[in-house]
Amino acid sequence: MFFAWKDNMAIDGGLIDSDHQELIAIMDGVMILLHNKAPKAAILTMLDGLANFARIHFEREEALQKAAGYPDAPNHKQIHVTLLKDLEDYIREMSNISCSALTPQECKNRMHEAKRFMTRWLIAHILGEDVKLRPHVQKMSPVADSMPNLLQQGV
Ligand SMILES: [Fe+2]
Repeated sequence: MFFAWKDNMAIDGGLIDSDHQELIAIMDGVMILLHNKAPKAAILTMLDGLANFARIHFEREEALQKAAGYPDAPNHKQIHVTLLKDLEDYIREMSNISCSALTPQECKNRMHEAKRFMTRWLIAHILGEDVKLRPHVQKMSPVADSMPNLLQQGV
């Protein structure tokens, strides 16, 4: 396992955490594909899935912040815009992401880079920004309760 959700990432014990767990599971899936020298199409499909899920998750998180009157909501939204752009740039630059044509050392370097990117991309965001939502969770919960669990919906 390359990425795992940890207790110190807990925000709301509910919707936000389960979205984050899914994002982290997809990131782990990307690493496993790299490790298994999967073809680039499979890795790009997984990265596109990460971007799609992130887009939906960020919108939900922004709606919850708005509902709770979270004062830093505009700034947080801007950070989400940047994160999506960073991921899109990464996907474009990494169009030859597969390890299949790389030497073992080159593959190791690529995996190291991918892990570093995704750590900064999501884990640092959860631990640096999303944790600030903890005091507002109670105000978010009525709206969160009305939102579907994306995994049960098969998104
Ligand atoms: Fe966020």
